[in-house]
Amino acid sequence: MRILFLGDVVGRPGRECVVSRLPDLVSDWKLDLVVVNGENAAGGFGITEAIYGEIIAAGADAITLGNHAFDQREALVFIERAPALVRPMNYPPGTPGRGAALVEAKNGARVLVMNVMGRVFMDPLDDPFAALDRALDGAALGEMVDAVVVDVHAETTSEKQAIGHHCDGRASLVVGTHTHVPTADYRILSGGTAYMTDAGMCGAYDGVIGMDKEEPLRRFTRKLASGRFEPATGPGTLSGVAVETDDRTGLAVRVAAVRLGAGLEEARPAFWA
Ligand SMILES: [Fe+2]
Ligand SMILES: [Fe+2]
Repeated sequence: MRILFLGDVVGRPGRECVVSRLPDLVSDWKLDLVVVNGENAAGGFGITEAIYGEIIAAGADAITLGNHAFDQREALVFIERAPALVRPMNYPPGTPGRGAALVEAKNGARVLVMNVMGRVFMDPLDDPFAALDRALDGAALGEMVDAVVVDVHAETTSEKQAIGHHCDGRASLVVGTHTHVPTADYRILSGGTAYMTDAGMCGAYDGVIGMDKEEPLRRFTRKLASGRFEPATGPGTLSGVAVETDDRTGLAVRVAAVRLGAGLEEARPAFWA
């Protein structure tokens, strides 16, 4: 199975590069499953129903979220009728939506897509390790589901790596989001799970993690907020990770970085060339 995961879509530049490039990537690379993190898709903060529809129409099979999941209040309502929209699973009981979704891939495969949030330098949520155990217990890879994708929305590299190892052998891919900077540590862990600490963002890289650089610089240098954070303008660059899995086991056999656009050195999976 061919899986593409794209990191946090930030504002209009992020949406434009995903919506314009994804349809061709799906056909050129014969993708079976596309998962996109959409927590910053609406002006940098959250997601609207219209944007959810736009990214799905471009070829995403599931959209994951994070700490900005409900910044657009309408998400609290429309998430219930958006079956492929996945918010962090370790929010308190009663939070609208779902933290795990069983989606049908383009090749008909059954895929469990999960979103979990870390707790180091983040909001104090329920234990992400226990939440993953509960979800994975009911979804044996290669038996009950054909693939498992885990989006770890967390601040620290250590917590993300620990969650990767915790899921090793039980997931096809564990990939980090939230920090918006692609890491070079994409690899297959010893148990067969593809892993990358941060998928990077889909957005304008001439900024501070996707935001226009003026206000972040003012806040760092003068310690005073003097404006709103706005997404950086300029061309968007798409960033994520490509994984090929074994059809029988659901585990990863190949992994590569994906970076397309002017903001970063380009990277494409050689095994799909
Ligand atoms: Fe983000
Ligand atoms: Fe985030």
